[in-house]
Amino acid sequence: MTEKPAAPRTLPRHSATFDDYTLSEIRRAAATGIYDIRGGGAKRKVPHFDDLLFLGASISRYPLEGYREACGTNVVLGSRFAKKPIELKIPITIAGMSFGSLSANAKEALGRGASAMGTSTTTGDGGMTNEERGHSSLLVYQVLPSRYGMNPDDLRRADAIEVVVGQGAKPGGGGMLLGQKISERVAGMRTLPVGIDQRSACRHPDWTGPDDLEIKIEELREITDWQKPIYVKVGAARPYYDTALAVKSGADVVVIDGMQGGTAATQDVFIENVGIPTLPAVRQAVKALQDLGLHRKVQLIVSGGIRNGADVAKALALGADAVSIGTAALVAIGDNDPALEAEYQALGSTAGAYDDWQEGRDPAGITTQDPDLMARLDPVLAGRRLANYLAVLTLEAQTIARACGKSHVHNLEPEDLVALTIEAAAMAEVPLAGTNWIPGKNGGF
Ligand SMILES: Cc1cc2nc3c(=O)[nH]c(=O)nc-3n(C[C@H](O)[C@H](O)[C@H](O)COP(=O)(O)O)c2cc1C
Repeated sequence: MTEKPAAPRTLPRHSATFDDYTLSEIRRAAATGIYDIRGGGAKRKVPHFDDLLFLGASISRYPLEGYREACGTNVVLGSRFAKKPIELKIPITIAGMSFGSLSANAKEALGRGASAMGTSTTTGDGGMTNEERGHSSLLVYQVLPSRYGMNPDDLRRADAIEVVVGQGAKPGGGGMLLGQKISERVAGMRTLPVGIDQRSACRHPDWTGPDDLEIKIEELREITDWQKPIYVKVGAARPYYDTALAVKSGADVVVIDGMQGGTAATQDVFIENVGIPTLPAVRQAVKALQDLGLHRKVQLIVSGGIRNGADVAKALALGADAVSIGTAALVAIGDNDPALEAEYQALGSTAGAYDDWQEGRDPAGITTQDPDLMARLDPVLAGRRLANYLAVLTLEAQTIARACGKSHVHNLEPEDLVALTIEAAAMAEVPLAGTNWIPGKNGGF
């Protein structure tokens, strides 16, 4: 009797809903009973600047010559009310990242790199350090709900002030700094005990709405004699209304941070599920400014997932005056360097995915307060790397602007863009590539 051949079996199939990562997170939650906290921004794929393309000049448009014709990149921030607006040579700023989340050397490196390129850097939760002030030619001082490190003298030492309402990684949520990173110096600046986890408030204790915010902003102006530009930073959730209310409250500059925006430490569930992507946030914020007749008069800074000069150019084309970068600046100074792979593996991670910035064990010496790890980062060298990176972003944005026939990066406009997907077309309000169809706006062909 011949043996019956075994019936062919279908291959084991993983669920798209319960994928390996999801299963591992369920197991982790079951084993520990605590939620996952991490750094970085949203890791899921959302419509982004990658979904847009530029329409380079052809017969109907006249391009500019790369090596001979100028393409300006400067930007003035704070021209609405401040007596001393600040002028940046490039439209790319360094976002607020707290001393505490970052080492003093990392803060110094950011200051050095930004200053070399004529742009600003920003303090963060926990106050202003002398290294940072000393190495930043233009420094924006954050006023945060926590008030950690808040000091009126530092308001006067700053070049601009940023009232932080929220962040894109966690609109509506507060900050976190785990005890491992609360060294004596960090604790001293925040008036907190050493080594104990701390949470920052999710809302400002001294104002509850736009009317109070207006009073708060006026108070800040009085302390600084109406000299310094005042920014209001909001995590993207309802950017149209938030921009309008920030303007009503007296902001010189509005900063909108999309959901891909980085954080030093936040619950993963928050990072991935709260807020809207940067792409639709820009258009809504610009629309609010246009409806108020204040586009380009109140400047708009956009952040959340900016990585290259194309992203910069696209944000500007959609109507932003400048962009702000956090994660990319950290990578430029050495974060997630594959040369440190063995050490990332020892921490249960891998270069490119390492996001446990809250733990303070960063082998690159950036998101740590450990003196030995911190000493690994040479702020001079790291500053040079950041300056190089900023130079490339600028050159790339200029290259695109020239190809679109613009003699200043701010002359880029939505008309220069098309979208690759219907989602991106609807969110950015630019036509789907090869058509004149903007979903929800016109019939198209
Ligand atoms: C390590 C780290 C620390 C941060 N700390 C602050 C902070 O203290 N205050 C704040 O407003 N935003 C903070 N942010 C958010 C950044 O200011 C910015 O909104 C965000 O990083 C922009 O997105 P990107 O990282 O994709 O460039 C932090 C981000 C990172 C990565």
